[in-house]
Formats: sequence, structure tokens, C-alpha cells
Amino acid sequence: MHLISIDDLSVSDIENLFRLSDGFLEIASRSIKKVPTLRGRTVINVFMEPSTRTQSSFELAAKRLSADVINIKESSSSVSKGESLKDTIMTLESYRPDIIVMRHPRVGASRMATRYTNASVVNAGDGTGEHPTQCLLDLYSLRRVYGDLTGLRVAIVGDILRSRVARSDLFGFRKMGIEVRLVGPPTLMPPGIEYWDVPVYDDLEALADVDVIYLLRMQLERAKGKVPPVPSLREYSRVWGLSPYRVKADQRIMHPGPINRGVELSAELADDERSLILHQVESGLAVRMAILYQCLAGSLSEEPAA
Ligand code: NCD
Repeated sequence: MHLISIDDLSVSDIENLFRLSDGFLEIASRSIKKVPTLRGRTVINVFMEPSTRTQSSFELAAKRLSADVINIKESSSSVSKGESLKDTIMTLESYRPDIIVMRHPRVGASRMATRYTNASVVNAGDGTGEHPTQCLLDLYSLRRVYGDLTGLRVAIVGDILRSRVARSDLFGFRKMGIEVRLVGPPTLMPPGIEYWDVPVYDDLEALADVDVIYLLRMQLERAKGKVPPVPSLREYSRVWGLSPYRVKADQRIMHPGPINRGVELSAELADDERSLILHQVESGLAVRMAILYQCLAGSLSEEPAA
């Protein structure tokens, strides 16, 4: 099984991943956190873009499942010597990996990688394309907090234009019955958004009646050489930055990280008890263990002891 887009999964596939994640979450609370489930299997993390959370949680997930894991990073790989993606994947294929987890600055890179390997490919972020495992961990965090997801109201706020997280979350959240709206300045909305059939607001008033406010980082590194969509980060933060008093007592804050304190949210809000940011990271490890397991489930003899 490959996981390239959140649309690769049905509602029951996602519920099955939640069930597995519950087991892996329990394993993470034990003093010995390793299970033999993927012993003898090889996972290769190919990260051609910077990452803290996604890379570390895939690496730890593979290690906790007893797989052998290696990490390839752009700065230390032959990509900086001009090797193409095709050649990198074909080279790694010689090791006969079972799973390749890939992050790449180009949309479609993970799907392309599936052509050159027999391994299961997991998309860990392809440019402004998709980030399905982020969506799954966000859904799992929401399920842990709220139980039933149907009818939950979530506003995704900020740099929708360049956010693969916004794309995967919008499609995955709606699949699970969550009502999603997008909020931010019109210059940060992607062209063609009218075809996404989603309510779009350019005012923070739209946050008044939601349960969850999902904040995004301003992804300026993706805007190199182009006219910036907002005059300055200071102005963005004055108009759109959230601080504790702009959030209601029963609302929750989510963010995929990395957060920029003082831009999309204040330092106080990041540390506020209404923030689920670290809860998301904890969910991410369990969900990524479930995804690695599920990629190979057909070829494994038993379910992990949970
Ligand atoms: C996001 C990403 O890389 O798409 N981060 C993440 O995976 N935790 C969002 C971002 O970079 O702002």
C-alpha cells in the first residue's frame, strides 16, 4: 500500500488506523516502548526539505516497531551533487526497502517515486501538494479530544495558498464529517478556491462559532522571488495573529508546527492550556506507527500485541 494523498483512504481505512493508533499510544506509555512488529523490515526516510517533527516521528515510529531505518537528507545526500530523484530512488531500491517515507519540495514527487521502487511509498509532504500523515494525526488528536467528529467545526486560518497541510486537512476532515471553513486574507487563498466548495472568510469574526482554530505558519520560504502576499509579518501578526484573549474559553488551538511565536499566534497562546500543539505531536508518533504497520499489514503474520 502507498499513502500519497488523503483521498487514498476511505472512512473505514481511517477508522482502522485510529484503532491501531490506540494500541500504539498505549505502547508509548509503557516503560519498554519497542515491539517486534516490523523486525527485519527496512524503512528509508528520504527528506529533501527541512523537518523536525515529521522526520523524527517517522524515525522513532520505525525504531519502536523494530524496523531498520536509515535517513537520507538533502544536505548530506548526492542530490546536492546533481543526482535526480529517479536515480536516488533507484539507488535506494537496490537495498530492497519495504517502506520509503518521502518529503520533497516538488508536488507529485512521492507519486513519481512509486514508479521506481517496489517499496510502499508514504508521502511526508510534497511541495504545496499534500501531507496526508499530518491530516491523519490531526484527525486522531481531534478524535482523542472530542470522540465523535461529526459536526465538529474547524476553521483553518492563515497561509492556505502554500499549505499542503490545509489541502490534506480540508479533504480529510470533511471526509470524517467535520465542518471546515477557511479564514485569512484573500491574497493567501489559492486561485481556484471557489471549486473547493468550502466557505471562505477574510475576517476573524468567522472564528466566533468554531470548536477548533487550526493555525498555519506563513510559509515565506515557498515564496522566494515572488511578490510577498502580505506587506510584512508585523502587519500580518497585528491583524491575524491570535492571542489568548481572542480565543474563547472552550475553543482549542491546533498547529502543524513549526510555530512562529509572535506571528500567527502569541507566545502565551502557544503555551495556553487550550493549545493542542504538543498533543498533536504525541498523536503523530502513534499514527505514524499505525501507518508503517498498515503499509505492510498484508505481508505480516499477526497484529501488534496491544
Ligand atoms: C508542515 C509542513 O512541513 O508542511 N509542518 C509539518 O509537517 N509539521 C507545515 C509547515 O511547514 O508550516
